[in-house]
Amino acid sequence: MTTFATVDEVSSALAEHGYVPDRRVATTTFLMMQLDRPVLVEGPAGVGKTELAKAVSRITGRRLIRLQCYEGQDETKALYDWDYGKQLLYTQLLRDKIGEIVAAAADLESAVTKVAEHESVFFSERFLSPRPLLDAIRSEEPAVLLIDEIDRADEALEAVLLEALGEFQISVPEIGTFTSHQHPFVILTSNNTRDLSAALKRRCLHLFLDYPEADRELEILRSKDTGLGDALSAQLVQVVRELRALELRKAPSISETIDWARTLAVLGTTELDAGLLAETVSVVVKYERDHARAVAALPRLLDPNATVPGKLHDHDHSHDGRTHTHANSETPHDHEEDIGSERRAAMDKPGRHGPGHYGTPPYAEDQALVPASSNRVSSDQGKRSFASGLGRRRAL
Ligand SMILES: Nc1ncnc2c1ncn2[C@@H]1O[C@H](COP(=O)(O)OP(=O)(O)O)[C@@H](O)[C@H]1O
Ligand SMILES: [Mg+2]
Repeated sequence: MTTFATVDEVSSALAEHGYVPDRRVATTTFLMMQLDRPVLVEGPAGVGKTELAKAVSRITGRRLIRLQCYEGQDETKALYDWDYGKQLLYTQLLRDKIGEIVAAAADLESAVTKVAEHESVFFSERFLSPRPLLDAIRSEEPAVLLIDEIDRADEALEAVLLEALGEFQISVPEIGTFTSHQHPFVILTSNNTRDLSAALKRRCLHLFLDYPEADRELEILRSKDTGLGDALSAQLVQVVRELRALELRKAPSISETIDWARTLAVLGTTELDAGLLAETVSVVVKYERDHARAVAALPRLLDPNATVPGKLHDHDHSHDGRTHTHANSETPHDHEEDIGSERRAAMDKPGRHGPGHYGTPPYAEDQALVPASSNRVSSDQGKRSFASGLGRRRAL
């Protein structure tokens, strides 16, 4: 297990393991390790929050344990649950033995009492299903615990997590209390879809990740071996930065810059021109309205002095207050197109899609726990309904 004596060491280790840090990222990571405190990483989707936790796992040689949060998640998905299927299987296999135990009972009530005398057998560690938090706390080797997109979880779960993280212990009433031998490094991420509790913020070191500076984004592109040459990559980074400055519904993230560079490389691009970028811009903008805006802005983004044929009639006030003009020919057909896209844009209200629609998929890519969308059938759905039929045994 690797340890680090300085911020510089952390910084170079991250870079060596495929994560290009800036000074703040390296410093916060170093402090997390030294002070044994969780880090809360906030920022828009696709800026490297989740990747930071994966990189910390790589540089420390610690196992990554991931809790992917989603709406409606309860603590049985975060802390622990009972393995109902296994309990059932055992009771089936042990039918004869159980029969012997209750054989002498005179009536139903005393039979139940007899069985109850043995229930601790079935609520023992053998039948416990550790979820990520208990897994991290019980782990023999210290781990990296990623609590991803905690803003998607309900406040009730946030409180439960906070409590478990405060003590680094989890108590299972039927068994006892589990305490971690060596605390995991804990990284929580949030896309800021809701405010997190003051208590959580107080407990954590805080790191706000935003879209990177041009230099760092270029370095990230280099580190990903996109196949696109340095000069074109640098130009592409500038274009993406300008796209971010447009008021798009979903600004392109680092991962989208990487995808765009790869796309252009695959197409054998030797020069960036507005036509080629317009053909491929759907790699980075995912909404129709954003697409139209991006395509209209591209000639100017590539060359601010570009004179574009056609009559200028559309004014685009970008966030920096500059007024940009871009070209549109005024054929009746084009005009109809414009009205159509305006009408669609007017209907395109933010928030009409439920949570989970924006940003990264609401389920983990690697240690997938449970997909967020309710129409997916999770592998343990039957187990849950069985569980709710039985009622939980936590109150014992
Ligand atoms: N600093 C970085 N160094 C290297 N790659 C990065 C960096 N930041 C982001 N990336 C790339 O961007 C992708 C998206 O990052 P991710 O961590 O999934 O974003 P999010 O902030 O939404 O969790 C990653 O898979 C990684 O390839
Ligand atoms: Mg993420």
